[in-house]
Amino acid sequence: MKSIVTGGAGFLGSHLCDLLIEKGHEVICIDNLVTGDTRNLAHIESDKFKYIKHDVTKPIYFGDKIDFIFHLASPASPVDYLDLPIQTLKVGALGTYNMLGLAKEQGARLLVASTSEVYGDPLVNPQPETYWGNVNPIGPRGVYDEAKRYAEAITMAYHNHHGIDTRIVRIFNTYGPRMRAGDGRVVPNFINQALKGEDLTIYGDGSQTRSFCYVSDQIDGIYRLMMSNCSEPVNIGNPIEMSILEFAEEILRITGTDSKIIYESLPIDDPKVRRPDISRAEEVLGWKPKIDLTEGLKKTIDFFKSNIEPF
Ligand SMILES: NC(=O)c1ccc[n+]([C@@H]2O[C@H](COP(=O)([O-])OP(=O)(O)OC[C@H]3O[C@@H](n4cnc5c(N)ncnc54)[C@H](O)[C@@H]3O)[C@@H](O)[C@H]2O)c1
Repeated sequence: MKSIVTGGAGFLGSHLCDLLIEKGHEVICIDNLVTGDTRNLAHIESDKFKYIKHDVTKPIYFGDKIDFIFHLASPASPVDYLDLPIQTLKVGALGTYNMLGLAKEQGARLLVASTSEVYGDPLVNPQPETYWGNVNPIGPRGVYDEAKRYAEAITMAYHNHHGIDTRIVRIFNTYGPRMRAGDGRVVPNFINQALKGEDLTIYGDGSQTRSFCYVSDQIDGIYRLMMSNCSEPVNIGNPIEMSILEFAEEILRITGTDSKIIYESLPIDDPKVRRPDISRAEEVLGWKPKIDLTEGLKKTIDFFKSNIEPF
């Protein structure tokens, strides 16, 4: 089996490359390194692995047969997509279009990495896949949310119109080793502030909720979805919901730091609640998360202790 992973030098993509190699796939990683780093791939010794530096908003062709395309390329953290708004829109639109074209040419199955952000600031909690969302298209987060909504729409159009075999995973907050310390997401933010003895910054009053999925659970869910016959979107995330204040307190407890919690103003359109309904993943994929928060955070903290300076 030959698989392409776009965004394979990033956080999730590099863990996916590891799993695919373990499962015996030949893996071609395509990444332009806009937010990724080849150091995430440095440990891979397999001769079945190849890295190609390429921007997927431009077409790419392969002579050999490709079986699976995992399309993960996209800036993913708010800091990154606010800094790279046009690239984010282009990779969601042109990047997905190019990968669907490749899937069509190759007769390959394509999985697109979508996001819980397609639900925007949700009016329904937890969010089932049938919820259409509450997104501000012209707000600062719109560049990411709408890029992913377009990616879902074009993927479904290729599936329905051209009969392409497609999968859509709606990824909820996922954390673990190989996140960048400075990527602005709450898990690396809090851990690195705690490890440096700095105060933990909460944006807003900390009552907004999130749910956190450990990376190995997320990658297992993505792999199962690709191998399933489900072409409907599937939420993959941890359904245990907690407030950001509770989460900050958990980080203080596990790291044993003397850091305090400080508060800053809430960014525009920040979702107030976020929790996946994972009934479909349980039913169709036999998937649910296995790693509890304390265990996952300990592994992530160990990673940041040995990589305290961001890549
Ligand atoms: N980690 C999460 O919690 C989460 C949540 C929801 C969705 N996702 C989605 O999962 C995917 C991976 O996210 P991540 O957390 O690993 O982020 P990441 O930034 O670590 O990885 C994204 C990778 O895509 C690459 N990339 C971006 N634009 C590209 C382009 N035009 N051509 C080629 N490569 C390009 C980057 O260089 C990077 O290596 C993204 O599509 C993201 O939207 C992640």
